Amino acid sequence: EKGGYEHFMLKEIHEQPKAIKDTFRGRIVDGCDIVLDDLKITKEQLANIDKIFIVACGTAYHAGIVGKYTIEKFARIPVEVDIASEFRYRNPIINERTLTIVISQSGETADTIAALKEAKSHASRVIAITNVVGSTVSREADDVIYTWAGPEIAVASTKAYTTQLVAIYLIALDLALKKGTITREYAAEICEGLKALPEKIQNFLDNKDEIQKFASEHYNTRDVFYLGRGLDYAVAMEGSLKLKEISYIHSEAYAAGELKHGTLALIEDGTLTIAIATQENLFEKMLSNIREVTTRGGYVLAFVMEGNTQLEGVVGKVIYLPETLEEIAPIMAVVPLQLLAYYMAVDKGCDVDKPRNLAKSVTVE
Ligand code: M6R
Repeated sequence: EKGGYEHFMLKEIHEQPKAIKDTFRGRIVDGCDIVLDDLKITKEQLANIDKIFIVACGTAYHAGIVGKYTIEKFARIPVEVDIASEFRYRNPIINERTLTIVISQSGETADTIAALKEAKSHASRVIAITNVVGSTVSREADDVIYTWAGPEIAVASTKAYTTQLVAIYLIALDLALKKGTITREYAAEICEGLKALPEKIQNFLDNKDEIQKFASEHYNTRDVFYLGRGLDYAVAMEGSLKLKEISYIHSEAYAAGELKHGTLALIEDGTLTIAIATQENLFEKMLSNIREVTTRGGYVLAFVMEGNTQLEGVVGKVIYLPETLEEIAPIMAVVPLQLLAYYMAVDKGCDVDKPRNLAKSVTVE
């Protein structure tokens, strides 16, 4: 049942190229036309939307943060991302001009269902992104976009996250094309980038030994800091959650620019810091944040795109990601972070697929 893999998590990490392909298949036609049969919102209805909420928990919430950056960039509609357990009790300002997107792998998370109902009760249209056909979330929402990841067994979400990202990119493109805020050429470029991803991820997975080796040298670490800016910050949050939930190593994700507002005090000799730097316009800024860490003796592992050699000799280790359009870089950049968490947990002897205290589906609040 684990298809020759030692754990479901490793199997599911390796299923990502296929899951991603299955999620965009049939939904991109003629270069950039987005066909989401279940996203029935019309141009006219969209013209009346002035605010989007994305609501979810855990990993799905992290996918939502990528959604905020992307929808705002492509469709120029303000997006607020909220944790479902917060949203449902804070009396958020929702009306018929609000569009709500809920994201849930299982479609059965109690807080996310409650958030969906809260949004609907205030006349908001609700789009659900879910992996389970017929789930509660899929039945309650107005529009449903399925991720075609297949069953996810490991408690730590991997392929559900990357396919949620694909769904979000498709929705963002669809909204932006309907609103006319991006050109068809630009949309086609993003679609090409998405289509190229499965093979690139596959290539990376075929060379995962580098990550495994790094994990074997660092699994005894006490704390890990993940840093990024923009989309990389969203990925940092997901990487950090993966590590803590399965390896029980304390980790935190920070927007790199926030370092000097407090966190820098925690960096001491040898503190492992993971820097994700895939965004070109933010690279110089990341570089100075990385220097803030190395100057204090912190050990930095950096993830950059192939071809960018600027960190050689600056950080402890650089791992190169297959070159990917930076707009969709999170789908690529999260893969090594999943692997790193996995191998560190295995090296520590943890029960990777069933981490302590956690359940796959959180159906009670
Ligand atoms: O089924 P859902 O997507 O609604 O689940 C949300 C979270 O419980 C889930 O993503 C959780 O954070 C995972 N254990 C993360 O790996």
